[in-house]
Amino acid sequence: GNYQGQVFKEGGSRFPFGVTELEEAARRALSTRSFDYIAGAAGRGLTAAANLDAFARWGLRYRVLREGTAVDTSVRLLGTPMSMPVLLAPAGVADLADPGAECAAARAAAEAGVTQVLSTSASTSLEQVAQAAPEAPKWFQFAWPDDEKLARSFIARAEAAGYSAIMLMGDCYTAGWRPRELAAGFSPFQHGYGLDNYLSDPRFWELAGLSHGGTDIRNDPARLEKAVATWNRIFTKPSLTPADLSVLRSWTKLPIAVKGVCRPEEAAQLVDAGADAIVVSNHGGRQLDSGVAALDCLAPVVAEVAGRVPVLFDSGVRTGTDVLIALALGASAVMIGRPWLYGLAVGGQAGVEHVLRCLQAEFNDALELTGHHRCDTLSAADLTPLPAHG
Ligand code: FNR
Repeated sequence: GNYQGQVFKEGGSRFPFGVTELEEAARRALSTRSFDYIAGAAGRGLTAAANLDAFARWGLRYRVLREGTAVDTSVRLLGTPMSMPVLLAPAGVADLADPGAECAAARAAAEAGVTQVLSTSASTSLEQVAQAAPEAPKWFQFAWPDDEKLARSFIARAEAAGYSAIMLMGDCYTAGWRPRELAAGFSPFQHGYGLDNYLSDPRFWELAGLSHGGTDIRNDPARLEKAVATWNRIFTKPSLTPADLSVLRSWTKLPIAVKGVCRPEEAAQLVDAGADAIVVSNHGGRQLDSGVAALDCLAPVVAEVAGRVPVLFDSGVRTGTDVLIALALGASAVMIGRPWLYGLAVGGQAGVEHVLRCLQAEFNDALELTGHHRCDTLSAADLTPLPAHG
């Protein structure tokens, strides 16, 4: 098929097609502090750069004269049907990119047939996001708070609102050391951004000593101070261990994925402890600098998990060929983080739709050119390591 033709617009598009151009357009569209928060990375940015560079170390071994049949990129993951193996990664405070925030992204995801994973730190409550695209499948990323009642409430609310899987954030006990954010002097959560799931929960009001919730809190210094101090205290539960997966299992029947894994032995341990999926990720290089490229952790984790559960991947996926490489290395699906936030920044819902449409077209293209018609026939045989430079 002519996939490029599907996104081609006579006279060009108001949205960029290249990843660098998209990032630049987002930079122009946003305030410095918002862009720096979204684009930011830990330390010198070595992990974030390594995430991107890792893809350039693989070459695709394409085929010729392959019998042409229509490409079908659909997959089913943890019971959720998806038009392609790409999900919107959970990202808090999306209202820094656009006031439409997670609701705009939810509608774009629904339009594209992909799954949005909503962050606990979303700038819109999980119920409101669910209402924005009621028919669309959605998953909930769970930041386990250090209060059992609040933790159980989040899970119960996600279930009630129709989220069909829980993705436990495993790699964020503390905010990463992010110099750009520090230089901009703006930490969104300390200003009350990203607290909507908390402020819409009566248990949180109780913990904070607030008589009611509501997100007008940013204009009410006394309530803001209480809410932020409480959030700082309970945002994460540092004592979590793999054994806590059985606690989570006792609260919900939904499938549980664990996000942020990079060590194979930990992946195996988490599967033993009851994880229904593993997400290989280093948080887009936002947490720990001098880290290993997430892509380099993928194949070893896949080998160790040995098909017992699906392995998802994120951190550095930017193009359709990146999606193909990750799948060839054993991922069942990938998530994109910054790219959807950049799309949101440049065009709201239409911008996210554009990003997804381009990824879908380029992935279809890459799949067909490498001689595949479906995702599940990709394997390491489609890849060759490129010689190291210099
Ligand atoms: C994130 N990420 C993230 N992850 C998570 O589990 N919960 C969260 O609230 C957030 N918040 C968040 C905010 C912003 C602005 C970004 C950019 C990222 C991490 C995200 O889910 C994902 O792991 C990375 O973004 C993937 O890397 P790329 O695609 O951005 O390179």
